[in-house]
Amino acid sequence: MTQSPLETARILAVDDEATNLRLLERLLHSVGYTNVTTTTDPTQTLPLCQAADVDLILLDLNMPGMDGYEVMRALRKAAFDVPPAVIVLTAQGAHDFMLRALELGARDFLSKPFERNELLMRLRNLIEAQLAQRFLHDQKQTLQSLVERRTAELRDTRLEVVQRLGWAAEYRDEDTGQHIMRMSRISALIADRLGWGSRDVELMLHASPMHDIGKIGIPDAILLKPGRLDAREWATMQTHTTIGAELLSGDDSALMVLAKEIALTHHERWDGTGYPAGLAGESIPLAGRICGLADVFDALTSERPYKSAWSVEAAIELIHDARGSHFDPEVADAFLSAVPDIETIIQKYRDPVADASTPAQSLASNE
Ligand SMILES: [Fe+2]
Ligand SMILES: [Fe+2]
Repeated sequence: MTQSPLETARILAVDDEATNLRLLERLLHSVGYTNVTTTTDPTQTLPLCQAADVDLILLDLNMPGMDGYEVMRALRKAAFDVPPAVIVLTAQGAHDFMLRALELGARDFLSKPFERNELLMRLRNLIEAQLAQRFLHDQKQTLQSLVERRTAELRDTRLEVVQRLGWAAEYRDEDTGQHIMRMSRISALIADRLGWGSRDVELMLHASPMHDIGKIGIPDAILLKPGRLDAREWATMQTHTTIGAELLSGDDSALMVLAKEIALTHHERWDGTGYPAGLAGESIPLAGRICGLADVFDALTSERPYKSAWSVEAAIELIHDARGSHFDPEVADAFLSAVPDIETIIQKYRDPVADASTPAQSLASNE
């Protein structure tokens, strides 16, 4: 026959008199409780409760060494998911003893010699309440982990969507999507090195893939032109920043606000020679300065229709040389301090056909 949860409830009896414990144990077993532990050593109460989830303690008050009050104080200080319920058993029937015990957290009180049925009924009530509490606690935990799992799933989906969106924008001129993966991770790494909090670093990881979303609005004849762009074509190419900002505007979520800022400012330069606004120094949002560097670095080390790939060393040298002119010196330093991790990112998200050769063309690409 299967036992009811009530009968398997964990009960601990603590009394310095072994005879009392034997009596209690016999009584509890006789009505079906199977999970009963006893101890004559009050100092063992807390360790026993911590070792297993005890539901209920039958606690003697008058014990040498450590009395029932001290046991309750120790229990109170300890952290339990669901603290055990305490029934105090004592020969002292005086009112103030009872009050003091209740004050210290005892849930019920019985004077010795106790009446068998009264003890069993009170015990049963308390165990029922205790099991209900444990059930609620477990359910809360289950719900909490469910919420955490769902939130993580949403976060992953969001990253997937924004990466694919970024990839869609670059699909015509860079069809592997690996640039987005590397550039966003390098941007997040630089932000981390600059001391951004983990939430902002994650935002950077999710917002930066959309930096070139505005390329959607650039005609093929310009975006895919193999040679140099003339002045008009170049002006049109530059509008991928403002088009991107427009596409990403109108939503005040932190992610979209950051994505818009990056789309608009990732081609500005520290010395004011960038586009679209020719902003200089700290008037360029930091996120734009970070992504601008990560984007240039990755574009240099990747093969494009109009240029072969630079070696990582050559690209690092360029970043170093352009520190304070093209790039914010602090952002460049953060990048340079992270080179080993950046190399790991490049390895991990390598283009299917990798080709590293010597510097072939100047930084002025078709972008
Ligand atoms: Fe761009
Ligand atoms: Fe890019």
